[in-house]
Amino acid sequence: MALSDKDRIFTNLYGLHDWRLPAAQRRGAWDGTKGFIEKGRDWIIEEVKNSGLRGRGGAGFPTGLKWSFMPKQSDGRPHYLVVNSDESEPGTCKDRDILRHDPHTLVEGCLIAGVAMGAHAGYIYVRGEYYNEHLVLQAAIDEAYAAGLLGKDACGSGWDFDLYVHRGAGAYICGEETALIESLEGKKGMPRLKPPFPAAVGLYGAPTTVNNVETIAVVPTILRRGAAWFAGFGRPKNSGTKIFCIQGHVNKPCNVEEEMSIPLRELIEKHAGGVRGGWDNLLAVIPGGSSTPMIPKSVCDDVLMDFDALREHRTGLGTAGVIVMDRSTDLIKAIARLSAFYKHESCGQCTPCREGMGWVKRMMDRMVEGRAEVAEIDVLEQVTRQIEGHTICALADGGVWPVQGLIRHFRPMMEERIAAYKARKGSPIPTLPMAAE
Ligand SMILES: Cc1cc2nc3c(=O)[nH]c(=O)nc-3n(C[C@H](O)[C@H](O)[C@H](O)COP(=O)(O)O)c2cc1C
Ligand code: SF4
Repeated sequence: MALSDKDRIFTNLYGLHDWRLPAAQRRGAWDGTKGFIEKGRDWIIEEVKNSGLRGRGGAGFPTGLKWSFMPKQSDGRPHYLVVNSDESEPGTCKDRDILRHDPHTLVEGCLIAGVAMGAHAGYIYVRGEYYNEHLVLQAAIDEAYAAGLLGKDACGSGWDFDLYVHRGAGAYICGEETALIESLEGKKGMPRLKPPFPAAVGLYGAPTTVNNVETIAVVPTILRRGAAWFAGFGRPKNSGTKIFCIQGHVNKPCNVEEEMSIPLRELIEKHAGGVRGGWDNLLAVIPGGSSTPMIPKSVCDDVLMDFDALREHRTGLGTAGVIVMDRSTDLIKAIARLSAFYKHESCGQCTPCREGMGWVKRMMDRMVEGRAEVAEIDVLEQVTRQIEGHTICALADGGVWPVQGLIRHFRPMMEERIAAYKARKGSPIPTLPMAAE
């Protein structure tokens, strides 16, 4: 089973063709957009619901349902669409290819999503490092304005819609939707407690929906080909096509649009040239970007790549950033590196995250050396449980899940490291866990 070319939504994912408007239109973009808008907001939301589309930004929340939370009647406040193009989750580089090679899928999607949520303005928040990508996106927006596809009476539909690009300054936390909104308003990108959710109080205090780039970019094709077509891919509740980013110890790292629920092994072997040294050389895979717990080879052998299958194995599809690690990998060191990342990116508002991630990072640094007691593995595990679910946003959860995955599946490796240290140097010098570096 593999997705056939005729069913690809992103027909220029690799930049082999021209991204500009005339070429994008020849590939199908902006075809029938006016008609979709004229069918109205409820029709669009119903189609998106029926397609089974779930958010591609990490959490997998049903998109049509999310759009339906926007107030039906305006109370005088404007409504806003905000597109999350912060893409800072390590292992994830899919939105980047949409921005630079297929920007009109996103621009058209913004107009349609804007109509569905009663918004006359949309903001695309682009990761600061995506400089060239933002230039392409802005040029695509300019082309759309010039062709009458955006702006007043967009596509001749009677709907006015303006679209703006905003560049971030390079902070992982600004990908969290409430932090993104703060940052867009010109403030420091710090998450805030929900509720109220952005659909009630969002950008400039007005009803707002934040969606991932890929989520928005697939919508025009869903409307053109029909909800049933999209729902026909993948298992129930996990439908559609999906861009996977496959990297690490594979022979040919790549981004590829595939059917949801494809077996992980097939995904890696068909598209990424297989694991370096063969499938049996596989040690573990982080399946959905750095926040998702790793799974050992025994799970990778037959797990399906979708939200529910990965959840059953106590991990997640996340952003579908697949990080493959072969037997040469020092898994403890790899996870310690992620702990350093999350410690660094913590915005510092919540004590369990601010203090806890630093503590976890220092503890993981000792685990890399084996300079610890075996009992400290349990202490580490318990501390991650104290952090998880006790903070304003999910950065802290994402920071401790990789550590939990390591302990769950590779505890013997950590114990061996400790034993090896003891054999070399004797018992470790007692170190207070809270000691700063
Ligand atoms: C720390 C953190 C970083 C995030 N970074 C991103 C990101 O870069 N891109 C993204 O689309 N969603 C990111 N999210 C998820 C967003 O908060 C939000 O759920 C998402 O944009 C919703 O879009 P969707 O419903 O289309 O998936 C992040 C969440 C957290 C907690
Ligand atoms: S969990 Fe961490 S990143 Fe999120 S708001 Fe709290 S301190 Fe900031």
